[in-house]
Amino acid sequence: MNQHFSSAGATLPPGDVAPAGDVVRIVDLKRRFGRTPAVDGVSLTVRKGEILGIIGRSGAGKSTLIRCLNGLERPDAGQIFVEGREITGLSERDLQPLRRRIGMIFQHFNLLSAKTVEDNVALPLKIEGRSKAERLARAAELLDLVGLADKTKAYPASLSGGQKQRVGIARALAARPALLLSDEATSALDPETTRSILSLLKDINQKLGLTILLITHEMEVIRTIADRIAVLDAGRIIEEGPVWSVFADPQSEVTRSLLGGIRPQLPAAIAGRFARSGREAILRIDIAGEAARRPLLQELAAAVPGRYRLVHGGIDHIQGEPVGTLFLGAATPAGRLAEVVDFLNARGARVEVLGHVTDDV
Ligand SMILES: Nc1ncnc2c1ncn2[C@@H]1O[C@H](COP(=O)(O)OP(=O)(O)O)[C@@H](O)[C@H]1O
Ligand SMILES: [Mg+2]
Repeated sequence: MNQHFSSAGATLPPGDVAPAGDVVRIVDLKRRFGRTPAVDGVSLTVRKGEILGIIGRSGAGKSTLIRCLNGLERPDAGQIFVEGREITGLSERDLQPLRRRIGMIFQHFNLLSAKTVEDNVALPLKIEGRSKAERLARAAELLDLVGLADKTKAYPASLSGGQKQRVGIARALAARPALLLSDEATSALDPETTRSILSLLKDINQKLGLTILLITHEMEVIRTIADRIAVLDAGRIIEEGPVWSVFADPQSEVTRSLLGGIRPQLPAAIAGRFARSGREAILRIDIAGEAARRPLLQELAAAVPGRYRLVHGGIDHIQGEPVGTLFLGAATPAGRLAEVVDFLNARGARVEVLGHVTDDV
């Protein structure tokens, strides 16, 4: 079992400073609407330079959490530190400079249609009172970064969804924020455009060292670019850890269900042929890390004689770590299937006997 579940942190004394290296530190945050606890005691840290993905079903409290973070929502209790400064309890005026440390991108882009691309990008700098020359120079630099150098004078209406989101990203970066917040920024885009936007975000993360907090209901988004994942359900963090480890060994039913679409499943054609009298067991073997690096099947065949064949599955690589699921047909001498299961379990695989089949399927 992986131990990636983190316990809630204790409340820090007021005025305390977050440890160096943490861009955001959230401590026991609560926000309720009437009887609905939208955020119900969330403690969370976003480390400098990382991409943290927060996933949850609709209504889990993701947007409320992010709105507390950028000061649009006042929490009922708890603390939020941005770059070591507590923002909870600040007046609207004192919040302004801290808000500028946070850039945000949105599902529906939120561009100003009457302004050119370059003016949209430069808007945060105008609000900061920067000179026109400075604004335009920065806009040009950012539009180059997001691959839209030729769209400077265009209006948003003439752009595709993916291009609009690139403008949104450029605008979010204009004031050189410490943190980029993304609330479902790819949910309105097709899969190919989603991939290109995610790869741009990863690129910016690596090139500029930008810290990103990404909120999504899609595991694929997290798998593609996040370093760490936190699963939010009913206003609480129910699971947290490196992406590969949560994918390899989800601890909660909610996480498993969110992973559902991208976890390998036994093809129905095989499941449809399960028979009580079958001699060949079909096993589901989940492996990751060390267990996925060793010659496990060869070792198995040497330890327990039998006829083994791979019927489905494969190994993926998440953050460079092998994570996968193998569906194995195992025809072993009577009574020795339990040895197979014990053998694999002892080597860090997770094994489930799904059923039996009578002949090759
Ligand atoms: N302004 C609001 N007034 C009343 N209820 C709200 C408000 N905002 C959010 N909620 C409720 O809080 C819960 C969490 O909502 P939200 O943060 O939008 O979730 P998510 O973004 O994960 O879908 C939901 O039950 C939602 O109906
Ligand atoms: Mg939301």
